[in-house]
Amino acid sequence: MSINSNALSTYKLLKATAEVAEKSLEGRIQHYRAHLKSEDKELRTYTQKAAADLLGVNNRTLKRRHDQGDFDHLSIQKGANGHYAYTLSNIFAMADTLGIHSDHRSEQDKLQVIVINSLKGGCGKTTSLVNLAAALATTNIKRYRIGIIDLDPQGSSSSFFPSREHDPITVGDLMRDCIELDEGETWTQLVSDSFQTTHIPNIRILPSGMDDFYFEHETATELKESSGYDNTRHYHKLKERVIEPVQDEFDIILIDTAPSLNFMFYNALMASTAMLIPVHPEAVDFDANNKYLKRLGEIYHTVAALGHEGWDFMQFLVTNYVKGNHSQRDIVKDVRTAFGRQVMSYPINHSSAITASSSSFNTIFDQKTSDSLASRESLLKSQENIKDVVDELEMLIRSNWASTQSSLD
Ligand SMILES: Nc1ncnc2c1ncn2[C@@H]1O[C@H](COP(=O)(O)OP(=O)(O)OP(=O)(O)O)[C@@H](O)[C@H]1O
Ligand SMILES: [Mg+2]
Repeated sequence: MSINSNALSTYKLLKATAEVAEKSLEGRIQHYRAHLKSEDKELRTYTQKAAADLLGVNNRTLKRRHDQGDFDHLSIQKGANGHYAYTLSNIFAMADTLGIHSDHRSEQDKLQVIVINSLKGGCGKTTSLVNLAAALATTNIKRYRIGIIDLDPQGSSSSFFPSREHDPITVGDLMRDCIELDEGETWTQLVSDSFQTTHIPNIRILPSGMDDFYFEHETATELKESSGYDNTRHYHKLKERVIEPVQDEFDIILIDTAPSLNFMFYNALMASTAMLIPVHPEAVDFDANNKYLKRLGEIYHTVAALGHEGWDFMQFLVTNYVKGNHSQRDIVKDVRTAFGRQVMSYPINHSSAITASSSSFNTIFDQKTSDSLASRESLLKSQENIKDVVDELEMLIRSNWASTQSSLD
């Protein structure tokens, strides 16, 4: 095969650009690591009143239990002001001491696997996902076991939960079967260890990496060379190789996706029990969203024919909504008129606190108020907004758990 000389120049240019980009990326990653202290990213701490609120107990009760020495074994640190500065881990351990049980799903409740996807790039998938996960994990004492799978090789959601390891196992590594087991190690152990603990005690993340892009190419090749779905099960890889082995370790798994309808996305659909579709209320974005929905239906048909069991819910989530912007308000009205109750009641509002936190890869829930580049007021306002969204999401999740139904009966 001969390559046109012009194409060769283009190729050389791209290679040179890629080298520069790689160096720049390496430098930036090192910069983030140094800047973020990613090895030991610290969660915000809570005052005694905030800890008591989260635990659902009286401030005086906490004080008395402290005086009795009930929490001495936790070595809770004090801040510069001499008051206790509780970490979330401290609060969870205090809950155990106080006999406040975690509220996980029971055995008959289905693991919820929620996929967030839209073909529209930059509509707020990652920002919404990481903030919703952090709110689910940190704003109540239920201690949900939350897994995040970053199915976007760009690795945006992985950046919010930096790995302690230099070269962590990625979701693509597991799906592409390119890891060898150590002697005596089981696949389940390997997958479980690949879901890394994060600075938020009950969130674990399975990160992505740039090599995960190869999954697309390899799947296409595999398809060409093999006959019949049973030989490849290329749409079942995430479900069967990654999620099923560790399903008992989680209550909720959230999957971030690339703005693409690629093989990875088919895998996400096959593994999903629910779907969240972010809609940025700008005219071009809403139009793009409507075109996407047509394609989504066609794609879902393929997945359903291969055995998918249907969603517990599919919701639209208005994201990055600028309150008071008339044209955005009109579009939200159109979205609600078109999709009715399938639109989440609250949008995620545009917030300078989210912009500021995201720029240092923090969610607004692990952002220390004192470190925030946005005002305390805007941080609290945005936290309240996301909590409203999460309350509804939690209701949707729990209403599909048999234990919730039976307690209602
Ligand atoms: N509620 C919000 N308030 C302020 N900024 C926001 C909000 N939601 C999203 N953004 C900003 O919009 C930009 C795009 O968001 P994000 O990365 O979450 O989109 P995405 O859909 O994941 O993009 P991609 O398609 O590239 O994965 C980011 O700069 C993010 O900080
Ligand atoms: Mg993203």
